[in-house]
Amino acid sequence: MILWFSGTGNSLAIARRLATDTGDTLMSLYDAVRSDLSKESTIGLVYPSYYFNPPQAVTALVERLSLPRNAYVFIVITCGAQTGNSVWAVERILRKKGLKVAYCHKIRVPDCSAIGFGRDPNMQKWKFERYASRLDVISSHIKAKRHSRYYGAPGLAGWICALPWVKRRTLPLLQPAVDEHKCIGCSVCMKVCPQGNIRMKEGAKADTGVAYISDRCVQCLSCVHFCPQQAVVIAGKPTPKKHQYHNPQIKIKDLIRR
Ligand SMILES: Cc1cc2nc3c(=O)[nH]c(=O)nc-3n(C[C@H](O)[C@H](O)[C@H](O)COP(=O)(O)O)c2cc1C
Repeated sequence: MILWFSGTGNSLAIARRLATDTGDTLMSLYDAVRSDLSKESTIGLVYPSYYFNPPQAVTALVERLSLPRNAYVFIVITCGAQTGNSVWAVERILRKKGLKVAYCHKIRVPDCSAIGFGRDPNMQKWKFERYASRLDVISSHIKAKRHSRYYGAPGLAGWICALPWVKRRTLPLLQPAVDEHKCIGCSVCMKVCPQGNIRMKEGAKADTGVAYISDRCVQCLSCVHFCPQQAVVIAGKPTPKKHQYHNPQIKIKDLIRR
């Protein structure tokens, strides 16, 4: 079973490809916490790196999983460049559940983090081509149930970003919000939000309503990148259309939570 978490689709596209190559089943981490995984012989986790750490949604969901003790466990992390403690932090949770991560690999993909950063088309093309060929190798390793780590050691940036007071000070600055004057109430953001954290409320244009982001945001930025009106802002700044990014293989319907 391959379990995924994804905001802008990179991790889902990669999880999907690994599932096809290995003949394994795909399931969102949100569905996995409600499922019986006790008979699974393989557990794969595919998720992005946020601020050199796993997304807080991933650690919270992995804590809640009930997993078979003797499964072959692998982790594939997607990132713009550096993953810091993204494997280590999840590995620690799995160890408490009696599981050892046998294999992990990081994959560099087009970055969806800072607005406009890493959106150079040549860089994106390079990353897509490179990761497609890496995935052939990773799939063959997983099929062979290989034990190895293609992943850097945990680093200082990861520890610093995980400090509670650093998170308290920095995360609110990067919190997405809806510009009510631009929002047309199309509900795309509501559909792609993995946390189910976006609702419609009555706004200036009462006929359509406007989106409202509540307090369970995990900053995956899917709302920022999928909004057709560029109406989701960060620190008051909109993301121009040319800077919006989502994995080209992933459609809105693929991210809608069941
Ligand atoms: C809030 C946030 C923080 C990020 N932090 C990092 C980071 O520390 N290092 C890195 O290499 N990439 C970082 N990224 C880039 C993502 O890891 C990368 O775009 C990932 O593939 C997104 O996965 P998704 O498309 O499945 O959501 C960050 C992205 C976001 C949204």
